[in-house]
Amino acid sequence: MTKKILVTSALPYVNNLPHLGTMICILSADAYSRFLKLKKENVVFVCGTDEHGTTTEIKAIEEGVTPREVSDKYFKMHKKVYEWFECSFDCFGRSSSDENHRITQDIFLKLDKNGYILEQGLEQLYCGKCGRFLADRFVEGTCPHCGYEGARGDQCENCGKLLNATDLKNPKCKICGTKPIVRETKHLFIDLPKIEPKLRKWVNTVKKTWTTNAINMTESWLKDGLKPRCITRDLKWGIPVPKKGFESKVFYSWFDAPIAYISITAEGRKDWKSWWNDEKTELVQFMGKDNIPFHTILFPSFLIGTNDPYTLVKKLSVNEYLNYGTGKFSKSKGTGVFGDDAMLLGMEPGVWRYYLLVSRPEKSDTEFTWKDFQEKLNNELLANFGNLIHRALFFVNKYYDSAVPETPDDKFDYSEEIEKITKLLEEIELRSALKEIMLLAKKGNQYLQENEPWKNPDDAKTKKVLANLVNLVKDLSILSWPFMPGISENVQKMLNVKINDWKDLGKKSVKKGHKIKESEHLFKKLEDKDVKIYEERFRGKSEVSKFDFRVGKVISAADHPNADKLYVLKVRLDRERQLVAGLKGYMNKDDIVGKNVIVVANLKPAKLKGIESQGMLLAAEKNGKVVLLEAPKSNLNDRAIFKEGNPANEVTIDEFSKLKITIKGKRVLLDKLVLKTGAEDDKASIEDGAAVR
Ligand code: 2FM
Ligand code: ZN
Repeated sequence: MTKKILVTSALPYVNNLPHLGTMICILSADAYSRFLKLKKENVVFVCGTDEHGTTTEIKAIEEGVTPREVSDKYFKMHKKVYEWFECSFDCFGRSSSDENHRITQDIFLKLDKNGYILEQGLEQLYCGKCGRFLADRFVEGTCPHCGYEGARGDQCENCGKLLNATDLKNPKCKICGTKPIVRETKHLFIDLPKIEPKLRKWVNTVKKTWTTNAINMTESWLKDGLKPRCITRDLKWGIPVPKKGFESKVFYSWFDAPIAYISITAEGRKDWKSWWNDEKTELVQFMGKDNIPFHTILFPSFLIGTNDPYTLVKKLSVNEYLNYGTGKFSKSKGTGVFGDDAMLLGMEPGVWRYYLLVSRPEKSDTEFTWKDFQEKLNNELLANFGNLIHRALFFVNKYYDSAVPETPDDKFDYSEEIEKITKLLEEIELRSALKEIMLLAKKGNQYLQENEPWKNPDDAKTKKVLANLVNLVKDLSILSWPFMPGISENVQKMLNVKINDWKDLGKKSVKKGHKIKESEHLFKKLEDKDVKIYEERFRGKSEVSKFDFRVGKVISAADHPNADKLYVLKVRLDRERQLVAGLKGYMNKDDIVGKNVIVVANLKPAKLKGIESQGMLLAAEKNGKVVLLEAPKSNLNDRAIFKEGNPANEVTIDEFSKLKITIKGKRVLLDKLVLKTGAEDDKASIEDGAAVR
């Protein structure tokens, strides 16, 4: 019996459409399983949508429909996106399926029977206004570990630590914003300390085949010692708990989501048991870094606790995050490229796949920028890979009536490269493997360039060179298939071959006399003007970034001729501007002149008591005390920003007064954002809580 290899990609939450960052994990798993398929391994690639939990319930409340309707709608959208991205799942399903209800309950019953389930009272947050317990994402507050203010009830996105909602400082109901109260309810826990010895033993035998980030995080969990973990929730949307006294509860979505890997396989294949209950199956799991403990501690514990011979993870490939520029992807804010956007931009899916896999964040987070995307498309795919293929085939068409002119020879050898790429792929070093493939294309371009086939096409040597190049193109089509299947297939169409076997690499299987087809350009150049358009289009409509805050120096101050409370100031930013400011009575003219202040530079000019004000200077006020916001170390006309983004041409005073800017620790804050200028300045010497206007 040949070995079975089961490849999974973390199941994305159904209600968030996948963005480029989400695609990294799925495409990595796809490339790896395609590679295994080319090697004729016995592979099943499993993925689907993670549908239960508070995220879906919240979305349903927002959209005014049922969680089932939300899931149905978004499941279809996910499917479309993955099809477009050429994902080759063998089984694609949903965590809310009947099969998953059945298998999840079955695993739970076994855990219970084997004594791994505990009943415990639990202090839980309850929103009196909404009349519900606030599980997981229904509550937000400050992380007790790192101080991040947007931490959710189950995990802090900032430091990655898992939380209990009651650990949060300053918790708020996500639906109504009310401060919840603590109430006691009964819940079921998995007794991790009891499973721990078996789990530890298993971790120690297998962890060497995990990525470093996975080993580190798992070891740190085990070092702290495991605690019982709650696996039930007071929600409607989920898998009902089959136990007396708990009929009104459902399982925590992180209990049933990993089990869905099994049920999705079961729905797709009659022989699923032989994949999940077999020591000879090698389970290879792909995920983002925040998923590690669920796959190395929790899911294995669920399975070990059944005492059944379930297949446990063998290899784990964890990616870090891809951000959109310096910010996060956000569909609601329109920031960043999502799967459905990519589908509409007119570029081949292979271009996106290439970009995402060649810049796959492996050791640290990386940033998507349009410039980087353009460079990889124009310089790597088009000028290197595409160019080699086009030129080689073009010459064969032009000089030799489309037939391979000679029997290839072994003067052009790249067996070492093939070996290296194969090894990298076996080790799931996807990014390095793809880079090596591009280096091989470069080597081909050099070989072509050195031999100048256009000079002596009738030479025997030239004919050999082209026969070798055609075979390199064939090999590149095989090597690139895991990464860009559609492009690889286009290359094979032009070559007039169909080869999907890794073993064909290095074999000069495109023989003398073989007729090829017309060669077409594989890629279209991405122009600067399009980059500009896309940058603008996916920038996001961040409300704060539309204000153009600038550093300026006050040159002079005078009394306003018609008003008691106003000064007329001259301030130098890009140019000298006249500002009317209501500071008289709070400070003297001498306290203002010479200071570097912060000005709203794109404020619509307005007349104040007959004198035009071309902007507004910021000051903070508390209990009748007023201070200027200053940036003494920054340069004139430096931008002061809360958040990256392009300012609007003009903003109004009404728009500005909606911002709730305050002072904390002498810094200027808008929600959780800190106002930054070129230099690190204390911007306001005034008590915390002072309001800026
Ligand atoms: O982090 C996430 O996107 C989760 N939906 C992953 C679940 S993986 C599996 F266990 F289902
Ligand atoms: Zn509430």
